[in-house]
Amino acid sequence: VGVLDRLRVPIVQAPLAGGPSTVELAAAVCGAGALGFLAAGMRTPEELAEEIAALRAATDADFGVNLFVPAPAPGDPAEVSRYARQLRDAGAEPGEPRFEDDAWKGKVEVVLAERPPVVSFTFGCPPADVIRAMHEAGSEAWVTVTSPEEAERAREAGADALVAQGIEAGGHRGAFSEDSGGDFGLLALLALLGGPDSPVALVATGGISTPATVAAVIAAGARAAQVGTAFMRCPEAGTKAVHRDALADPAPTAVTRAFTGRRARGIRNRFMDEHPDAPTAYPELLHVTAPLRARAAREGDAGGLNLWAGQGHELSREAPAAEVVAWLAERLGA
Ligand SMILES: Cc1cc2nc3c(=O)[nH]c(=O)nc-3n(C[C@H](O)[C@H](O)[C@H](O)COP(=O)(O)O)c2cc1C
Repeated sequence: VGVLDRLRVPIVQAPLAGGPSTVELAAAVCGAGALGFLAAGMRTPEELAEEIAALRAATDADFGVNLFVPAPAPGDPAEVSRYARQLRDAGAEPGEPRFEDDAWKGKVEVVLAERPPVVSFTFGCPPADVIRAMHEAGSEAWVTVTSPEEAERAREAGADALVAQGIEAGGHRGAFSEDSGGDFGLLALLALLGGPDSPVALVATGGISTPATVAAVIAAGARAAQVGTAFMRCPEAGTKAVHRDALADPAPTAVTRAFTGRRARGIRNRFMDEHPDAPTAYPELLHVTAPLRARAAREGDAGGLNLWAGQGHELSREAPAAEVVAWLAERLGA
């Protein structure tokens, strides 16, 4: 019997790195019978260990921890310099490009020691020996996939569940590389992965924003719906004020590399439009644009900030996380 079998409500709070994810949000979701997640991305191993301890103090329920799988190689340094120069020429003060692995080894050690019930991975498939180590520690290993090919690799590596991410999803694409994937819509992807006959449990994610769409992905064969944007206006979330306000209003979203060098969906804004040609270089560009993003946040400039959002963002509610869970589960039989 796995974590998905034990969940009272088949809803997973998506890990939301970069601010929105908090211990309070995960704890509230767990308290409502769904699966809360901690986002380890862009945190130090020490911070992650502290957050796990704080969440354990707040709840006895199952929870997950999400890790970024590091990129195998840096982007083209000449392209990165060109991009930084372009920003400087436009009057900005870009940061230094830095290729790093988000403290991968340190965080793997933390989760092996802390043994959260679920460890999920995005941006790649961890090596089979890492998944084996998770299993020996007593954790399930879930892998985010965006195509049938990625799903095949994740199954071969020993994944316990696949987080099937449709192109509707807010934030970064979980694709194993910038050229893998295939921009599948969520329902098509669930079908291609076998739907209810999938050999490995499916967790659906991307644009799920209402009780009816939660019911739809369950009908399409998912064991749970992983919801991100719909939790970002909760008081427990750490979403910035400008970002919260932007989510509430109807506005088109688009996929861009302009902020981080990796494709991600956000509300279409000035910075995206000004930089349609950003190179593939994550996390170098994350560091290059960091001072610009910090300044935009300080000044409340929604045009200069990465306003990550799924396609259903305007349907998100400003309500406590427990209420959002109960609302999203409304159309599921008890
Ligand atoms: C602000 C933001 C941060 C995200 N951070 C992560 C993350 O750290 N790890 C991860 O696996 N997915 C991350 N995602 C993607 C979510 O897991 C999920 O696939 C997505 O939110 C689903 O689409 P929705 O936002 O329309 O619900 C993030 C999404 C957003 C909007």
